Amino acid sequence: MSLIVNGSEVSAPADPRTSLLDYLREELHLTGSKKGCNQGACGACTVLVDGERVLSCLTLAVQVQGRAVTTIEGLADADGLHPLQAAFIEHDGFQCGYCTPGQICSAIGMAAELARGLPSHVSADLSADATLTREEIQERMSGNLCRCGAHNGIVDAIHATLAAEMPA
Ligand code: FES
Ligand code: FES
Repeated sequence: MSLIVNGSEVSAPADPRTSLLDYLREELHLTGSKKGCNQGACGACTVLVDGERVLSCLTLAVQVQGRAVTTIEGLADADGLHPLQAAFIEHDGFQCGYCTPGQICSAIGMAAELARGLPSHVSADLSADATLTREEIQERMSGNLCRCGAHNGIVDAIHATLAAEMPA
C-alpha cells in the first residue's frame, strides 16, 4: 500500500488507525499541516487529495492510498512561492501563521470548485456559473478559522489571486 505525497511515493502507515494528519506530521515530518481541533472544526489541517480539499484530521491515511496528496510543502517550486503564498504575504493574510497552510490549501481546492461551477450557500443563481465575489470567498472559506482575525487579508489575498482568472 502506498500513496503519493507531494510527488513522492511513500508507504502507507502500518497502523491503519493513523489519521492522514498524524501520518504527515509524525511519520513524514511534514509539519506544515497543523493540528488545531483534531475534530473537523477549524480547517488548520486542510490538504489536497487529487486536487480536492480534505480535512486530514478526519481522514485515515489508508483511505487515500493510491491517491495524490498535496500539502503546503508541495506548493512552492524552483521558481518560487505559489501565487497564493505570495498573495498572503502581500495582503497581510496571516499573523501567527498557524492557520495559513490550511487556508492556502483550502483556497486552492475552493478555486477548483468555483471553476467547476459548484454553487455555495450564498450563490444567488444555482444555474449560473459562480462568480468571484468577497461574499462567495467568505462563505466558501468559512470552514477555515483564523484565531488571529486575519480574515480580511485572507479574503483579499484569495480575491487578488483569483480575480485574473474569474469574472468578479
Ligand atoms: Fe482538522 Fe481542526 S485540525 S479541522
Ligand atoms: Fe494566526 Fe490565522 S494567522 S490563526
